[in-house]
Amino acid sequence: MLFRSWAQAPGAPWPDVARVADHVGVEHLVVTRHALVRQVLTDPVVYRPDNALDAVTPVPVAALRVLTGHRFRLPPTLANNGGVSHPGIRAVVADALHPTRVAAQRPWLTALVRERVATITAALDAGTPVDLYAELAADLPLLVLARLVELPEAPVGVVKEFARAALELFWAPLDGERQLALAAEVGRFHRVLREFAATGGGLAAELRAAGHPPDVVVGALFFLLVAGQETTSQFLTLLLHRLAGEPAVLAGLRSGAVPVADVVEEGLRLEPPIVTWRRVAAVDTTLGGTAVAAGSSIVLWLARAGRDPAAVAAPDEFRPGQRGSRRHLAFGAGTHRCVGDQLARMEAAVVVAETAPLLDGVTVVRPPWCPDNLTFRMPDAFVVRRPRPARSA
Ligand code: HEM
Repeated sequence: MLFRSWAQAPGAPWPDVARVADHVGVEHLVVTRHALVRQVLTDPVVYRPDNALDAVTPVPVAALRVLTGHRFRLPPTLANNGGVSHPGIRAVVADALHPTRVAAQRPWLTALVRERVATITAALDAGTPVDLYAELAADLPLLVLARLVELPEAPVGVVKEFARAALELFWAPLDGERQLALAAEVGRFHRVLREFAATGGGLAAELRAAGHPPDVVVGALFFLLVAGQETTSQFLTLLLHRLAGEPAVLAGLRSGAVPVADVVEEGLRLEPPIVTWRRVAAVDTTLGGTAVAAGSSIVLWLARAGRDPAAVAAPDEFRPGQRGSRRHLAFGAGTHRCVGDQLARMEAAVVVAETAPLLDGVTVVRPPWCPDNLTFRMPDAFVVRRPRPARSA
């Protein structure tokens, strides 16, 4: 269940806190209820974020050697930083992603998406199937992020490959051979990041100016390059797929009866790209009546919390604006709550507004497929086409 949690039947009963062993025998406490997930996220003293980026498959010596050969290090910076440096690093990143800076990107993004939608529409009209992940969603968030924070001048394809390799290395069940290949990929890009961290402008320069040491600048950029774009391109793909099966919502968008922002929130609740997030218990405690030993890995099932009947009126139905729709925990909560939430929302709103008309009446040729992963959905494709018009007799 841990590595394909999204495939669980929505109504299947789960205890509030379940003990589940993973593929290497490590026990995790899986938390399902909205109130308990929120309680853990907002109590950084009892539940620390230190394990947020720990590899769920222990990295064997051979792969560690590859990483060390690239001088790879990932010190606590953002999501995995429960220390005193966290607020300072977070403040610099939050400045770079300030809502006014995000809003300033909207016209540029809208023009780009419009251009792509026109090309896609022409292909669909000509009867050609189109992969909306590859042709629309995959690189958009990276292009926007690069405009906001200045990134190393690496080709988009290289950054995407590195980011997906990182998501697999840290969050997937793996064998030793695959770990070696992923370590080489992640290590290689870490070198690029180190150079950029030392000399680059934008966010790298701001972190340096705030007095953060080189390792911290690299660590923050590393996390941002993964969290700041893969998550959103995954979300866009999952949301478009979901909308293709929601004709009433598409009709509401077309008539203006359903606000785009409500569709985005309901999408985050029902199709979050980050399905779980981890914390580690700092002390012996109890959670929802279950004993929790210090050091326990706590797996917060964010996706399930979004479908908790105690938090939302019709948990499994896509009803934009329904009671509880915005109470999802897709962006976490508390001191580590996602700082890119407004950016992700803006990107999704533009894509939904511009793409909804195109989704009307398409046939799904190939739904997204997601590989085993504790935390990220990582859809690989989403292919649609227009049904052929019926031949006249
Ligand atoms: C739909 C897209 C996204 C989702 C679902 C998402 C979700 C999350 C989650 C669950 C966390 C952990 C929160 C916690 O521990 O309480 C997080 C943290 C974070 N996210 Fe996002 N995120 C998304 C997009 C972005 C974007 C676009 C950026 C930046 C460009 C970003 C930057 C960050 C950062 C820097 C953190 C760490 C914050 C901290 O520890 O202080 N995320 N995100």
